[in-house]
Amino acid sequence: MSGPNTNYDPVEPAALDPRTIDEAVASALSAVAEAGSLEELKALRPTHTGDRSPLALANREIGALPPSAKAEAGKRVGQARGRVSQAFAARQVELEAERDERVLAQETQDLTVRVARRPVGARHPVSLVSERVEDIFVSMGWEIAEGPEIESEWLNFDALNIGPDHPARQEADTFYVAPTGSGLVLRTHTSPVQVRTMLDREPPIYVLCPGKTFRTDDLDATHTPVFHQFEGLVVAEGITMAHLRGTLDAFVQRLFGDGIVTRLRPNYFPFTEPSAEIDCQCWICRGQDPSCRSCGGTGWIELGGSGMVNRRVLRSAGIDPDRYTGFAFGLGIERSLMLRHGIGDMHDIVEGDVRFSRQFGMEI
Ligand code: FA5
Repeated sequence: MSGPNTNYDPVEPAALDPRTIDEAVASALSAVAEAGSLEELKALRPTHTGDRSPLALANREIGALPPSAKAEAGKRVGQARGRVSQAFAARQVELEAERDERVLAQETQDLTVRVARRPVGARHPVSLVSERVEDIFVSMGWEIAEGPEIESEWLNFDALNIGPDHPARQEADTFYVAPTGSGLVLRTHTSPVQVRTMLDREPPIYVLCPGKTFRTDDLDATHTPVFHQFEGLVVAEGITMAHLRGTLDAFVQRLFGDGIVTRLRPNYFPFTEPSAEIDCQCWICRGQDPSCRSCGGTGWIELGGSGMVNRRVLRSAGIDPDRYTGFAFGLGIERSLMLRHGIGDMHDIVEGDVRFSRQFGMEI
């Protein structure tokens, strides 16, 4: 029977040599210390802690040692691996902190810095007033009707009972579209939309026709060659001037304030009979201030024209004047705006300076 192997030579494999292990640790620690970024640190891991790293190889050799040598070698390798992994962890923490600091510095936003904002525009008061007027009539159940700015002479004049000799047809008032005799004009008022509407629809008709109009007036303090009007038209059975008056009162109260009323003064328009000029009670002084700049102390401000639709106009639009009656009115938007806001000069309205528009606020 053989005895214990007393010839066993406990020579340690090279990987477990303390010098080899110390060198592996030193090399790992210096590489880790030099790693300048998280990426570099990550790239070092396989070499110093991976399966084929010197310390992993040493660890593997421990199994081949005699039991008496295992403990010490295990301790040595374990401590070496612990130092290396601690060094990796510590450097990782340092590099992460550096990165966080860098990112925070890069992404810092100084909320107190003044920003060079591109100035926003402003909606023109003509648009604001037009939309407000449209809203008032739509809320009363009326419809909005539109027509073309280049209009036939027949609709702009003849169908409205404005005969060939009427002064409004003169070149002094009207832009005629070339060539001569084209039969086309830039519409001088929104009244042709009345006729278009009556030709298109059966009564009862309740429409508001807003739009741009053109006359050969020079630009001055109270005139502009391109301006805006809105036209109201009602055609139904039994319509009287009382309906016109009630409608106008309801409208001015919504636009200018409670209690404001209108008055009608006799006038002449070829397309209405009888016709009347519409005055609105001064909403600034309500007739109480003889020195009021808005109404000149009269207590009334002129708004536009109105009347009962002329039977001849109804007939030319194919509507039976014995069955239906109607009223119509037409108001200029620029002039209403000047009165409403005390604007002294039409130039301010047409020049398009945003500083002027901004004063009217931002309604969308
Ligand atoms: C008419 O244009 C009629 N079609 C109005 C009408 C409609 C009457 C329905 C009866 C029934 P007039 O020419 O008065 O009417 O013009 C109406 C409004 O347009 C004037 O009160 C004024 O506010 C405005 N207006 C006229 N010419 C100019 C101008 N050159 N610049 C600015 N506003 C103007």
